[in-house]
Amino acid sequence: MAAAPSADGPEAKPVLVSGEADAKPHATDLLAWYDRHRRDLPWRARPGETSDPYRVWLSEIMLQQTTIAAVRPYFAAFLARFPSVEDLASAPSEAVMSAWAGLGYYSRARNLHACARAVVAEHGGRFPDTEEGLRRLPGIGAYTAAAVAAIAFGRPAAAVDGNVERVVSRLFRVDEPLPGAKPTFRALTQDLVPAERPGDFAQALMDLGATICTPRRPACALCPWMKPCQARAAGLQESYPVKAPKREGLLRRGAAFVAVKPDGAILLRTRPPKGLLGGMAEVPTSEWRGDYDVAKAILDAPFEARWRRAAGTVRHVFTHFPLELAVFVGRAEADAAAPDDMRWTGRADLAAEPLPNVMKKVVALALGEVQRDPPGGKRRGFPRQG
Ligand code: ADE
Repeated sequence: MAAAPSADGPEAKPVLVSGEADAKPHATDLLAWYDRHRRDLPWRARPGETSDPYRVWLSEIMLQQTTIAAVRPYFAAFLARFPSVEDLASAPSEAVMSAWAGLGYYSRARNLHACARAVVAEHGGRFPDTEEGLRRLPGIGAYTAAAVAAIAFGRPAAAVDGNVERVVSRLFRVDEPLPGAKPTFRALTQDLVPAERPGDFAQALMDLGATICTPRRPACALCPWMKPCQARAAGLQESYPVKAPKREGLLRRGAAFVAVKPDGAILLRTRPPKGLLGGMAEVPTSEWRGDYDVAKAILDAPFEARWRRAAGTVRHVFTHFPLELAVFVGRAEADAAAPDDMRWTGRADLAAEPLPNVMKKVVALALGEVQRDPPGGKRRGFPRQG
């Protein structure tokens, strides 16, 4: 934190100099702002309504590392398909993964399902109403437990996500870099949480971070905490939060093979249940490695065919590394059998497959190629392989 103003002696009066914040942040000022400017979100109880723990929990899991705009349609579709925690618990895992497909970070969907089952089997279908109880459930970490405890059950818990870290880092000019400073942020936020309306306070902080205290060009003039904000007083609001330099993951490369039958069916397989994109569907691919040699990709094809490289490359950024996939298209006979652990999926059934975004990009690139070069077409320029 910035150095506290030094005391100059017993008779020195506190004088407000330029660059010095002049008040403490009060929850009441933020709540008054929230009452006027709160965002209307589908999982949020309106004033006078009671929060539904199932909706609050579902939204918090979906919103982890994902924007509100991306979550909205998934949230609505998910609730229509699984209206209660019991419906979700009793659904087959493929149905849950399909409903999640496209939202990314798929371990969330597996944990979501496991959590719903635990709530039904161990808690009679009612979510625990304390942070500690919630934390014992699959997929619920410190942030989500605090958010659900505060929003759904009115507990005075500090829900600290990236938005809140930004607000608090500026409010108190926290110079300790993230992620090491997380305990400091939690303690500073906890001190701000009021006994009254802690759920609204948690959501107000999130809204403030998302709409006013933005990463760039924050709208300080509209902020209910402008006066106590230490970073603003120093004119340094955009310098916070301080972050430790990030180590970029190294680029990995690989090849993806889209085998297509004359009726449009595509060859798919299911990834192992644990790990990256666990349990999701994919077309067969090579290993993804930093030193992958695309010139030898054909050796990794799932069966012999005239594999042809589609124009372009699929790029995707995972949390820990960026990936580039070369896409190969191969035509299969109408009666070709699927290799072990793979299946032919008809075009009409593709939407129900839990294809992650990277695989949607691969399939789109391949099918674009197939359209440009329909079966029987004699396009030149493709290397004949296989
Ligand atoms: N981000 C994460 N949880 C949120 C919520 N409940 N409201 C708004 N933004 C959020």
